[in-house]
Amino acid sequence: MTRIFSGVKPTGHLTLGNYLGAVRRWAEDDQYRAEALFCVVDLHALTMEHDPARVRRLSRQAATLLLAAGLDPERCTVFVQSHVDEHARLSYLMECTATDGEMRRMIQYKEKSAQAKASGDGVRLSLLTYPALMAADILAYSADEVPVGEDQTQHVELTRDLAVRFNQRYGHTFVVPKATEPVVAARVMDLQDPTSKMGKSHASGAGIVYLLDEPGVVHKKVMRAVTDSGREVVHDRAASPGVANLLEVLGACTGQEPGALAGTYTSYGVLKKDAADAVVELLRPVQERHAALVADPGHVEEVLRRGAGRARAMARPTVDAAYRAVGLLEP
Ligand code: AMP
Ligand code: TRP
Repeated sequence: MTRIFSGVKPTGHLTLGNYLGAVRRWAEDDQYRAEALFCVVDLHALTMEHDPARVRRLSRQAATLLLAAGLDPERCTVFVQSHVDEHARLSYLMECTATDGEMRRMIQYKEKSAQAKASGDGVRLSLLTYPALMAADILAYSADEVPVGEDQTQHVELTRDLAVRFNQRYGHTFVVPKATEPVVAARVMDLQDPTSKMGKSHASGAGIVYLLDEPGVVHKKVMRAVTDSGREVVHDRAASPGVANLLEVLGACTGQEPGALAGTYTSYGVLKKDAADAVVELLRPVQERHAALVADPGHVEEVLRRGAGRARAMARPTVDAAYRAVGLLEP
């Protein structure tokens, strides 16, 4: 059976980008057709300046939102990365497999290290080695597929390279995974700055729709989205990034093709209103389930506890095999 692994970092509140790029597919498709694991990758949240209390809060919230989005713990495994030691154990072997040059070429490293420097913080070594941990997350579970947004494909490519290299050097140990991207909205852009990705922690929140934003807030953010100076509604990411983004968001919400949608609009205002309505409707059931789950925190904790147990049992044999393969003695 196909294995699927993916994760989300508790570095901020989950966004519409997270949902359309990744989480929605996990819930609507992946968990039904494969043996799937979905992880709140909390260790990855420590690679930049962070507040411990906030990471704790956001980790619980992310797990709750994954369940609210429809992940069914009877069908898939939902857990927290730091609850399973195998990730950190295997990450070290990945650091011994990757090269310094490979790590430095990662776009996310270039962007985030520049950000850290600009805010006067040191660049944490873990920010550089981050892809080794991510590779460990994936390879520990012998995942075939990694459903992610476009921004993560470079990391998954590196994971593939590391798996192939390790297998060649030490004998077949890892499955070589591949990234899967959504057809539409693989890269949802910031509504105020449609040339940059809608990220959890963009300077101002005005261009970011959070999954827990109330309908009025969603409306306001979408209606104020920056569009282009042209008048025509066309789907052209280069010439009209703001309009293209709205078309993609609307298309992803309603299951239509953005290019085809463009032809049905003659004004930006109507497009914005339809997009806002569609996002509100998309988020409504998630928000309702989230409210119900928050009222029962014991349930979420229990799901995570059981998830960690299952994940550990799956990862352990592969990580042990990797330890033996590189020449470490059996304890
Ligand atoms: P992160 O928030 O970086 O932990 O991302 C979790 C998942 O959401 C990853 O698969 C990302 O590729 C995806 N994702 C994050 N932001 C976006 C975005 N703006 N558009 C599409 N996918 C995204
Ligand atoms: N690096 C991913 C991100 O920033 C999160 C992540 C960590 C991940 N480990 C993973 C995603 C393993 C897929 C598989 O979004």
